[in-house]
Amino acid sequence: MNKLRVAIIGTGMIANSAHFPALNVLRKEGIVDVVGIADIREDVAAETAKRHDVPNYYSDPQKMLDELKPDFVAVCTPNMYHKEWTIKALRAGAHVACEKPMALSVADAEEMWQTAKDCGKMLFPCQCMRWRNYMQQSKNVVDSGELGDIYFSDIEFIRRIGVPTWGFFHMKEHNFGGPFCDLGVHLIDSLLWIAGDKKVEAVSGAAYTKIANQGEDILLSIAESGAYSGTFTPRPYDYHEFNVEDFSTGFMRLEGGMTVNFKFSWALNLPTTNLDMVICGDKGGLSINKEKLYKNIGRYQSECDMKWFDNGEFKGVPFEQHRYMYRNIINTLNGKEEYLIKKHQNIEVTKAIECFYKSAELGREVNVKEIIGNKLF
Ligand SMILES: NC(=O)c1ccc[n+]([C@@H]2O[C@H](COP(=O)([O-])OP(=O)(O)OC[C@H]3O[C@@H](n4cnc5c(N)ncnc54)[C@H](O)[C@@H]3O)[C@@H](O)[C@H]2O)c1
Repeated sequence: MNKLRVAIIGTGMIANSAHFPALNVLRKEGIVDVVGIADIREDVAAETAKRHDVPNYYSDPQKMLDELKPDFVAVCTPNMYHKEWTIKALRAGAHVACEKPMALSVADAEEMWQTAKDCGKMLFPCQCMRWRNYMQQSKNVVDSGELGDIYFSDIEFIRRIGVPTWGFFHMKEHNFGGPFCDLGVHLIDSLLWIAGDKKVEAVSGAAYTKIANQGEDILLSIAESGAYSGTFTPRPYDYHEFNVEDFSTGFMRLEGGMTVNFKFSWALNLPTTNLDMVICGDKGGLSINKEKLYKNIGRYQSECDMKWFDNGEFKGVPFEQHRYMYRNIINTLNGKEEYLIKKHQNIEVTKAIECFYKSAELGREVNVKEIIGNKLF
């Protein structure tokens, strides 16, 4: 394959901290060129271009697509612009990787996948958590049958104070939602995949805004908000603009009878747990965070300490999972591998998002059939 000519739309935290480091590895290997970047904040695009030695920067992404005609575009804008720029980039003839959550409604997700098909291009949702070594190894444990028939899971990602303040995360008009869209989609995507491609049936959820809007008395930490490498050109934060949830919780029914409890927070008066996933089956239970497998030996209860090995090429670097994701993308484009995240799996996560926010609004369980009009996927 010729060198892939890559462009990025939206050059904020994730583009600088995750996409560029991953692309820079591939640039060094002579596999890709980053030909241009675009951000509606021209100063941000200019700084990023200088920092990462990119020859062209734009404040108008469409102009960049028209002039540079890239082979591949990474969409790293706030959530509300994912669909627009994914579709425009596909139509401009590029394969597209779109940051998570790729879509905010099932109808939007379908339109994006259909456009990719119509344009003969590939679409890569950046649900990068799946490349974590413990997620991949947990999937192996489940696939080996150790847990038996899986019927329950508890997933949580609790940040005691971890409101992302550098960009647009806290504003509904730009990001659509809070921690459910930010943290929840990672865990839901990984869980559905690990548990064997489960499908979402219904969600009963609640969304609260209780702490993040309390004002200047609340200390906020960039690192605890997920920007491990810091931020480069943050937008000034004003808590008065905060109008998404800071805590999302609820219960999800999956097809086949499995149920899931979930809690995702940017601010909650509980200890930080970051990421935790417990999966229970009739033969065993697995706590990914505690690295424990609970089984019976004969009639006796036992606990095995799991050792999650990490022999990976990118072990321990911030946002290492994006590097594995880009390897997988390149190998997929070269026909050597299949991309880990499939269309039907992306649609399931999108169903969860749509049902969750509808349920929180209506104060009752929302079945997938209500949002997709009984259509089967
Ligand atoms: N995969 C992960 O682990 C992970 C982690 C963090 C963020 N993200 C996702 O990445 C996306 C961006 O997050 P971020 O932290 O980089 O935010 P950010 O605010 O730092 O960066 C977004 C950039 O997009 C620009 N922008 C805004 N509207 C635009 C538009 N219409 N067209 C072009 N550019 C526009 C902004 O000026 C900003 O520079 C979000 O969707 C978020 O959910 C993913």
